[in-house]
Amino acid sequence: MLLDRDGVDRLREALTTADYTGAGIAERLGAEAAAAAGRHDFRAALRLTTERDRLATLVRLFVCQQVEPPAAVADALAPLPLADALAAGLVEPYGDGLRQGVDLEPYADWWVLADVPGAARPGVPLHRDHVLGVGAASSTLAHATVRRPVDTALDLGTGCGVQALHLSTHAGTVTATDLSARALRFAATTAALNGMRWDLLAGDMAVPVSGRRFDLVVSNPPFVVGPGVATHTYRDSGRAGDAVCAELVAAAPDLLADGGTMQFLANWMHVAGQDWTDRVAGWVAGTGLDAWVIQREVADPVAYVNLWLADAAEGADPRRVAAWLDWFDAQKVDGVGFGLVTLRRGGHDDPVVRVEDLRQAVDGPLGAHVAGWFDRQDWLRGHDPLATRYRMADGLRLHQEATPGPAGWTVDRQVLALDGGLRWTEEIDPLVLALVSGCDGSVSLGDQLAVLAVAHEVAEADLAEVAAPIVAHLVERGVLVPVGG
Ligand SMILES: C[S@@+](CC[C@H](N)C(=O)[O-])C[C@H]1O[C@@H](n2cnc3c(N)ncnc32)[C@H](O)[C@@H]1O
Repeated sequence: MLLDRDGVDRLREALTTADYTGAGIAERLGAEAAAAAGRHDFRAALRLTTERDRLATLVRLFVCQQVEPPAAVADALAPLPLADALAAGLVEPYGDGLRQGVDLEPYADWWVLADVPGAARPGVPLHRDHVLGVGAASSTLAHATVRRPVDTALDLGTGCGVQALHLSTHAGTVTATDLSARALRFAATTAALNGMRWDLLAGDMAVPVSGRRFDLVVSNPPFVVGPGVATHTYRDSGRAGDAVCAELVAAAPDLLADGGTMQFLANWMHVAGQDWTDRVAGWVAGTGLDAWVIQREVADPVAYVNLWLADAAEGADPRRVAAWLDWFDAQKVDGVGFGLVTLRRGGHDDPVVRVEDLRQAVDGPLGAHVAGWFDRQDWLRGHDPLATRYRMADGLRLHQEATPGPAGWTVDRQVLALDGGLRWTEEIDPLVLALVSGCDGSVSLGDQLAVLAVAHEVAEADLAEVAAPIVAHLVERGVLVPVGG
């Protein structure tokens, strides 16, 4: 830990009594100034913290990255002695005063300790073992995690401990690992400051938990795709290409308890002449796991390399850019996909593996949608689709494109669209539209097909053979909802 237990208790007391909490800061700054400060625009926050009270000092120091007089900092951190705060690196001398030595961020009802973000030290490259605070990727994974009660949870590559904090809200025990000893020191301090106990283990990938199984595993790994050069532990796995993500998938069968779920953020290469979905499905093949992999974004190589070099303040080095892009060229990489991998040890001989684009904005936390997707897979596995009655999902819309002609409008295209949730759109033909339109929950699919078969003069069995997978697909996507099942 950065501080001993007594020091952590004193720090917690200081932060609590000064009201340096998410709620305390929101009340002092108001929503707008707090949001602006989150975007590194400190003007409003500084206007609202001109007094010399303890909260104002802590906000100026840790939120607005200002240099503060030592006496004010000592007062704000009391009962933690200033000497202890300096020794732990929480603050550091700068000019005539003190500035933050760590990122100490109120986050939800917690505090998170991490290294000072690169944006606060412009032009200074991040050191090798830089410990990230709560970033966009951390939040993406936190929102995408299935938050159901579990006995055991693992956060692989915990860093500052942000995922472990969330896991603590619904897991009996939390284990967290990291390759970086520095990261584990920060995670241990984050845990202690928030009164939590995690089993913190050092080591590479799944090695520290070898032989153990978990109900839920989450990871925001160092997924960045490149030649395998590791200059920053938070970003580079040291594995070439997207091998670190393939490795996580391969580790999942031994990490997951029966029925257990693993979720991680991933990058994968788009290789010219190869379908990216085949590449990623290939990682899962033979594991026996159910998988839902969704691609949320695709970056072109130049933008990707510039983004990740800038992330570690390495952007100015043209040789790094060129070496990285040359490697992409040599591997025929014409894009990099970013998304979420969810794996489940369902114990089925015929696991469901779906790898698909889900680029649209979705409503609500993705985690609830992921849980719903797997629930629907379970439903599909356990029910006879023909014996079931269905209804259309709430918020289902039909969009049509039509061309005017002498005899009126000719419909060219019909698309079903969910106006909430995962916001899927499905292009359909008139027969499927007739089927969906008949789904009012009153009769079974089998009975519906019997009527349609007569109307369209086709054999009922032939129609059922064609309709069953279409209906299963529409149920999977939440377009059709089983009634009473
Ligand atoms: C992108 S950061 C994620 C931190 C945090 N979990 C979050 O969600 O913000 C990746 C973390 O993985 C750790 N890491 C890097 N290589 C690792 C490896 N081979 N095994 C385990 N952890 C590793 C890094 O030290 C870093 O803390």
